[in-house]
Amino acid sequence: MLELTDVTKEYRVGEQAVRALDGVSLRIGAGEFTAIVGPSGSGKSTLLHLLGALDSPDSGSIRFQDKEIGDLDDDAQSEFRRHRVGFIFQFFNLLPTLTAWENIAIPKLLDGTGLRKAKPRALELLDLVGLGERADHRPAELSGGQMQRVAVARALIMDPPLILADEPTGNLDSKTGASILQLLADITEAGNSVVMVTHDMGAVRYCDRVINLRDGRIGSIDRVERGDDGEIRTVPEPGHTEAARVTADGAAVNGAGAVRA
Ligand SMILES: Nc1ncnc2c1ncn2[C@@H]1O[C@H](COP(=O)(O)OP(=O)(O)O)[C@@H](O)[C@H]1O
Ligand SMILES: [Mg+2]
Repeated sequence: MLELTDVTKEYRVGEQAVRALDGVSLRIGAGEFTAIVGPSGSGKSTLLHLLGALDSPDSGSIRFQDKEIGDLDDDAQSEFRRHRVGFIFQFFNLLPTLTAWENIAIPKLLDGTGLRKAKPRALELLDLVGLGERADHRPAELSGGQMQRVAVARALIMDPPLILADEPTGNLDSKTGASILQLLADITEAGNSVVMVTHDMGAVRYCDRVINLRDGRIGSIDRVERGDDGEIRTVPEPGHTEAARVTADGAAVNGAGAVRA
């Protein structure tokens, strides 16, 4: 569904260039729940922003459903962001003066649908995230976990194939965080893809894949397998281990993560 090839991104701060992403190649399949983990500053948020076309790479290719995102004009890119991607943030980003259902309806308003017309779907989604009783509550009247549920519903209202979440449980206690992770896992069961940046290694058990970033490169990609006994284990994806960064003749490949058979 989403394919990155040799993507680089640099930030310039004065004379200094910071290479936030350095030759990243990966694929995200439909219905997959992918975690992006790595130390602070390893490029996780930068990668998420590129996946959502909030920013563009300096070089390399990002294809979504076989279209190069960089080739789209500005209108098509904002169309892409509105209809193809839903965003979830660490601090929820709800509008304080609006009620829960109105917050959920916002993407519809931005797309030209009236509030009244958007309401039935917003209420359905509130039910889906377990907040049917809280439609008229404002963010200040909701707990952190409830606010994040509203944000999840808002991310879903345009029915986007791709949901991007940056530390969605970073501001929640572990029990509340677990319920949000379960909600995201349920969403992927319905066929949406979720890509989530997280610091929380406990989150991995809800995911299908784990991408480890290190200094702007892919260190490894692991698949999460669940045994019959509920045991979780991670299995390296072929071509995405540290070893794959070395070619047959022993030369290091610049830009880890590429599948270069
Ligand atoms: N807007 C920016 N301007 C300059 N440098 C940035 C900017 N955003 C990120 N960086 C730098 O790029 C690197 C990767 O940042 P980021 O993607 O935010 O990492 P992470 O989310 O893993 O903590 C870091 O060295 C960071 O300081
Ligand atoms: Mg970050």
